Amino acid sequence: MLLHTIAEVRAKIKEWKKEGLTVGLVPTMGALHKGHLSLIKKSVEKCDKTVVSVFVNPIQFCPGEDYEKYPRTLDADRKLAEDAGVDIVFAPTPTEMYGEGHIMSNDFLTYVIPPFFYVNKLCGKSRVGHFDGVCTVVNKLFNIVQPDYAFFGEKDRQQLIIIKKMVKDLSIPIEIVPCPIVREDDGLAMSSRNKYLTPEQRKEALVLKNILFNIKTCYNSGIKDVEALTETAYSFLESCHSLEYLEFRDKNDLELKKVADSDTIVFIAVKIGEVRLIDNISLDN
Ligand code: PAF
Repeated sequence: MLLHTIAEVRAKIKEWKKEGLTVGLVPTMGALHKGHLSLIKKSVEKCDKTVVSVFVNPIQFCPGEDYEKYPRTLDADRKLAEDAGVDIVFAPTPTEMYGEGHIMSNDFLTYVIPPFFYVNKLCGKSRVGHFDGVCTVVNKLFNIVQPDYAFFGEKDRQQLIIIKKMVKDLSIPIEIVPCPIVREDDGLAMSSRNKYLTPEQRKEALVLKNILFNIKTCYNSGIKDVEALTETAYSFLESCHSLEYLEFRDKNDLELKKVADSDTIVFIAVKIGEVRLIDNISLDN
């Protein structure tokens, strides 16, 4: 069932809660792909009812980013979601979520600001305010749907870590379920933004997984020094790749690592033309 208003969702959730049913939430910005479907599958397996939100959230895009051109494919998303067993597709308008003025108006003034230490690095460095927008919308969705479980992909690992921290710090009674990265057959991590790549750029995009998989192989062969592991990346980079970051950080608090260990996540962001792609790998076997 496709619902557009907060009141409609609340009414349905109230019915479900009365019946004692468990609810899973899969928050998305739409343009659903196999990565999202793996989250949906987990929710459908684990919960009595599953809600998928489809909302391109204006407040998590920075000026000059792709808010306007972000793919919007609601009809296809609805079909995919319902075929996968989703009970509600919640697709609000920006006005429904943030009032007439949307943002920067008296209609909407309260934000959830995650800790600076978690956001002043990796994607947060170039996307200032992005995680404030993410935490704010995720909180709103949590309050609207009141799920027992919420499902987030490890592809956006910094987002996942920040949301886990927010849930813990604010005592939000929801279990966050992390879901592994889903990759194309050639290893490219699935992302709605892969749609922006030209066929040539699609090939060039493999650099992210090539660097990460190679680092993991080197780590498994006994190289633990982060400087030495970082060095191994350079032979993969060509002039078409603009490396934004390649960093080794702790899986819980995002602290930088000098020596890699099983708690280490390797994070990478590369710009290919105008398309910015991210990926990561855990060194835990
Ligand atoms: O990961 C995303 O698609 C978005 O950041 C999210 C969690 C749906 C919030 O808008």
